[in-house]
Amino acid sequence: MLILGIETSCDDTGVAVLRDKEILCELLSSQIKFHASYGGVIPEMAARKHLENLLPLVNLALSECKISGQELDLIAVTRGPGLMGALMVGVQTARALSQVWQVPLIGINHLEGHMFAGLGNIQPPFLALIVSGGHTEIIEVKEFGSYKLLGQTRDDAAGEAFDKGAKILGLKYPGGPEIEKLSRSGNSRAYDFPVPLKNSDKIEFSFSGLKTALLWQVKKFASSEELNANINNLCASYQAAIIESLIAKLKLAVKLTGIKQVCISGGVSANGAFRDALTREKTFRVSLPELKRCTDNAVMIALAGQNRYLREGIIEPEVIADPSLHEI
Ligand code: KG4
Ligand code: ZN
Repeated sequence: MLILGIETSCDDTGVAVLRDKEILCELLSSQIKFHASYGGVIPEMAARKHLENLLPLVNLALSECKISGQELDLIAVTRGPGLMGALMVGVQTARALSQVWQVPLIGINHLEGHMFAGLGNIQPPFLALIVSGGHTEIIEVKEFGSYKLLGQTRDDAAGEAFDKGAKILGLKYPGGPEIEKLSRSGNSRAYDFPVPLKNSDKIEFSFSGLKTALLWQVKKFASSEELNANINNLCASYQAAIIESLIAKLKLAVKLTGIKQVCISGGVSANGAFRDALTREKTFRVSLPELKRCTDNAVMIALAGQNRYLREGIIEPEVIADPSLHEI
């Protein structure tokens, strides 16, 4: 089965061609440098960049694989959640290609996509923790297509906590990799940040209080020199609180469901300290995406599309972009 995957939900234009599970070509045009100068993603600009990049990337991918569009068996595109304009570029392009080439088209939930990036050899039942810039949720996967949301964040997502924390510290966007880099030479016990909802017996997250705690700590410094002298320790302590919260709730979900396989995915799963802590865990077996597939990419969309298509075929008469799509 030859599948074309398309991802345009936020600031990465991703295109991939797979033969069954084998990746024939994987292209990604990241807009991070462009948006970094504004301190975050500018939705309208993201859509315009997708429009410039998407068709050239599709053409390049097909020519690298030496196939024509008509030879494809399926096109899978992210239909939500994400930025409306950005999603529409991907969905409308995919619809046009599907019409012209007469290839079936399937719409994929971005979160289901992330889950497929982290899957490895894990088979259901398993727990999926999706930790990205927009989502922090634990999902029970009884079987593919049967997903139960066990818990999510009350406010900011974990990736957002990294991004907003970085902004408070005067670091650039996206904040996760910046905080991780500085944390490497910091002491994670230097500051006693609260681990959000540590003692609650519910599977839920909250990161906005932690962000405020960081802000108050930064305000205590008399000068930016003093902040900079302490920034490694601040980053390490802040990062440790986020990680501890994620792992505590994972352990709780494992305990409550009895499911001991966990698949982690989304941008925050690229964090080295988080990955190290997860692999030290004894109470569950963990599967993580390759580093380059933690953040947004089209391979994950092609994999999810293929799985869904083989399971249920095409059930949506037409694929429509839905920025607030939730149920996966
Ligand atoms: O999955 P993703 O590319 O996009 C969304 O669907 O949101 O995730 C982006 C998020 C950003 O918040 C970014 O700061 C975070 O993932 N991130 C990281 C790391 N790399 C990316 N957070 C912590 N450590 C990292 N190394
Ligand atoms: Zn994502």
